[in-house]
Amino acid sequence: NPNILRTVAELRDRVRTWRRAGERVAVVPTMGALHQGHLSLVETAKARVERVIVTLFVNPKQFNNPSDLATYPRTEADDAAKLAPYEVDVLFAPSVEEMYGPRFSTSVSVTGVSDGLCGANRPGHFDGVATVVSKLLLQTGADIACFGEKDYQQLLVVRRVVEDLNIPIEIIGCPTVREADNLALSSRNVRLTAEQRRIAPEIADVLLRSAAHLASGMNADPVLEAARSSLVSAGFDRVEYIELRDAETLEPLHRADRPARLLAAAWLGETRLIDNVPVVPT
Ligand code: PAJ
Repeated sequence: NPNILRTVAELRDRVRTWRRAGERVAVVPTMGALHQGHLSLVETAKARVERVIVTLFVNPKQFNNPSDLATYPRTEADDAAKLAPYEVDVLFAPSVEEMYGPRFSTSVSVTGVSDGLCGANRPGHFDGVATVVSKLLLQTGADIACFGEKDYQQLLVVRRVVEDLNIPIEIIGCPTVREADNLALSSRNVRLTAEQRRIAPEIADVLLRSAAHLASGMNADPVLEAARSSLVSAGFDRVEYIELRDAETLEPLHRADRPARLLAAAWLGETRLIDNVPVVPT
């Protein structure tokens, strides 16, 4: 497939020909194992600009758990087939060596929005994300990049990097795509057993119910405590966090007295699920 590129040099050549024709470029960074959530980002990108690059790279630097990295689904041929109907212009799928040469020594590290939540529970994760996303944005030189609200803290980390490093790109946040029963689509959902899959949507349902209470200005502590118990009763093995945060800064909130976000991470066996919903004060 001539549209699968493996090197930064080939990618830059391709983008250069588009630029000469005055075309605008979007990038959609992914780790592959594509599902409808990823494809919705591709649709958003296609609706806005002439050329779309999807990147497919399982970034070792952002995995704090070696077995998660080892078992992360790698399905490049299937991914290319899923993208075919969207007529994406380039699938950029570099090797680990192409991205991280033997002397690679640089890390992009964001404080503030990357503290707490997933940052507290996955040491080094957001440095890995910020580093690889910086590279992908600079390698493609795209005008816009699409990211999902499914990974809400990641979206804010990326916005921070782009602003702080003056990377000339517009970041577009896209809504979470869910199954019919509200479970947020995730490449890791394939790891769930039938029983775990039955329990999994409760994380979304609990977040949505709690968000409705919090939107009316209730004190967050009892709502979050009840939400935690509901997840455990539903069969989650461990609730890593469930927190109310400012929607823009991720500063902890005691009540939703401004636009807020309710975010959670919980475990079903060896599988970690994350989800989040908006809390709009009424
Ligand atoms: P990955 O988990 O493959 O996700 C790629 C993009 O798809 C991210 O922007 C993510 O938020 C979005 N996404 C995932 N599930 C979604 C859903 N259900 N609805 C809407 N969007 C969804 O996130 C990463 O990869 C990596 O950290 C990456 C940014 C590529 C850097 O390595």
